[in-house]
Amino acid sequence: MTANKSGDPLTLNRLYGRSKGKKLRVGHANLVETLLPKIAVPAEGPVTANDLFGDDIPLHFEIGFGGGEHMAARADMLPQHGFIGCEPFVNGVAMALSHIENWQGMGPLPNIRLHMGDAMDVLARIPDGSLSFVYLLHPDPWPKARHAKRRMMNDGPVNLIAAKLKPGGEFRFGTDHDIYVRHALMVMQRHRDQFEWLCDGPAQFQNRPGGWPETRYETKARTVYGHEVWYFRYRKK
Ligand SMILES: C[S@@+](CC[C@H](N)C(=O)[O-])C[C@H]1O[C@@H](n2cnc3c(N)ncnc32)[C@H](O)[C@@H]1O
Repeated sequence: MTANKSGDPLTLNRLYGRSKGKKLRVGHANLVETLLPKIAVPAEGPVTANDLFGDDIPLHFEIGFGGGEHMAARADMLPQHGFIGCEPFVNGVAMALSHIENWQGMGPLPNIRLHMGDAMDVLARIPDGSLSFVYLLHPDPWPKARHAKRRMMNDGPVNLIAAKLKPGGEFRFGTDHDIYVRHALMVMQRHRDQFEWLCDGPAQFQNRPGGWPETRYETKARTVYGHEVWYFRYRKK
């Protein structure tokens, strides 16, 4: 999972972080074995709405979905849209699969496809200008300055996100981390030619916008650590 990849050293070019945690319980292990192969993003080739969902429906892309609660809630909210979620951590993938199998006792979510691995690999295979939404919620902070290049919010990933969004598409970013938020704002300042920040005052980044379900990590940040959370919406120009 952390093998080096070739490429621009200023771009995030390897996967950092863990891919395994506690041993999966039997039900979760079964879901990884049986449900994941049915809804996995194919390993090669272009990734399009038509290939994944059989129709040219609006596409959403979530980077690092954790336990998948935000992705599942959005997919439930927008049943005519298609969702692609990427997450290398198998325990998170298993949890997301349990939501996809039966979301809050209301039945399966047919409009989600998953990739267990690096989101950048899949993003690169999506044709330019085809995504309606990209979500980056509570990315790993890598708070030490010497690890700043490991942060997902960097020029390489942001350029890729910009290329894949349609004009008018939306990039949503959320964090509770004070170092990361400053870093992210600096990075996004450099990308003003690609993105318009949808904000006309602090209330807009201090309060959760409509249609932005709370993530598990966010709940923990608020309730366990007492952190503030900030929400950013950027429209692709
Ligand atoms: C702090 S967690 C937040 C999870 C979730 N978004 C939430 O808010 O609950 C960050 C997640 O990003 C995932 N991640 C890190 N690098 C990634 C990459 N290159 N592609 C996809 N996911 C990644 C990690 O495995 C981790 O689950």
